[in-house]
This record gives sequence, C-alpha cells and structure tokens, in this order.
Amino acid sequence: GQKRRFQNRLLKWYKEHGRDLPWRRTSDPYHILVSEVMLQQTQVDRVIPKYHEFLERYPSFTELADAPVAEVKQTWYPLGYNIRPERLHSIARETVARYGGQLPNDADELLSFKGIGRYTAGAIRSFAFNEDAPILDTNVIRVLYRVFIAEGDPKGQKSALWELSEALIPRGKGYDFNQAIMDFGATVCTARNPYCLLCPMKTFCKTYPFDGKK
Ligand code: ADE
Repeated sequence: GQKRRFQNRLLKWYKEHGRDLPWRRTSDPYHILVSEVMLQQTQVDRVIPKYHEFLERYPSFTELADAPVAEVKQTWYPLGYNIRPERLHSIARETVARYGGQLPNDADELLSFKGIGRYTAGAIRSFAFNEDAPILDTNVIRVLYRVFIAEGDPKGQKSALWELSEALIPRGKGYDFNQAIMDFGATVCTARNPYCLLCPMKTFCKTYPFDGKK
C-alpha cells in the first residue's frame, strides 16, 4: 500500500539525492549528538564549519565536560545566543559522571538526561546505534502530514505523527530512513514552494497538488 510505496521511494530517492554530510561519515555518539544539537535551530550550511571547529576544540565528552560553560558558549556563539551550548555541556557532564563518558543507547536512559528530548533520543539511537527508533522534527512533521494526513492542524497531531514515524521505518533501516526523510523535507517537500512536480510521492500524496497551504 501507501506506506510501502513511501518507504521504497524515499530510500531510492535518498540513494540518488541524499546529501553527503560530515555527521553521516561517523557513528560516534558524541559527534552525532553535537551535530543534532547544532542542527536543531541552524541550517546545515552554517552548521558544517562549526561542527568541525567544535569537535577539534572538544574532541570527546570528557574535554567538553571539563571546559567552563562560559567558554563553551563563546565557542558556540556564532550559532546564536541560546540555551543549546549549556544543554550540550550538561549532557557531557552527565555522560561522564553517570556513564563513564559513553552515551547509553536505551531510550529511557537517554530521556532521563536533562536536555535530551524525544527527538534527540531518536536521533542518537538511529544515527549512532543503528536502531529503528523514530524521530519527529519540523521537517518530518511536514512531510508525514502532507503525504498521509492533510487535514486539521499538524501541531495538534503529534502523537499520531510519532506513531506514523515509527510505523514507517523499514526493519533494520532506521538510519537511512530517518536521514532520508530529513533530506527529503529539506530539499523537496520544503515548507514554501515544495517541488511537487518532481516528487516521487506525488501519485499518492494527500496534499498533491500543493496549493500554497500547510
Ligand atoms: N537536521 C537535523 N538532523 C539532521 C541530519 N542528521 N541531517 C540533515 N539535517 C538534519
């Protein structure tokens, strides 16, 4: 059915059009965490140089945990004044204090960290530990809402969207599926002026043809 077609077409699209990004060349949980926290509010192109710079300065949880938080915020600053560097620093301290400097892969343990929510836990589990864990951010919400739902307010349907995000993952392919849906939302199913004419989902998308809303 629809789900199967979505999975197959998304993975095929990703093979042909997925981006080569630095955090896709590693499975180090620390590197994945740094990239995901940076990407929470900042565009990919601006994150790339900062990601390298940050990891050079703080190569592991230990160095980050040992650094003064004010310095970490300074290093972060070009990405904006906000709470993300403090959260990341606090996660590093907790990882060193409670887990010997290695992030756990268990969902409940990850969620028990101050600063790790459902999205970040899913990103760490799928991108660092290769588990079929769901993710849901603004990109994923937009894509799933448009293709499968297309009625009501997407923000009010978070739990249905989380379920869909989980149900759609082809077994054993959580890593590729999650990276793919993120790229698809960022480059094809964009917020404004999506590229519907070249979209591989248009034959069954509930929103096609897009009329400028949602
Ligand atoms: N935005 C959030 N996480 C991302 C990822 N892993 N790749 C591209 N964009 C992202």
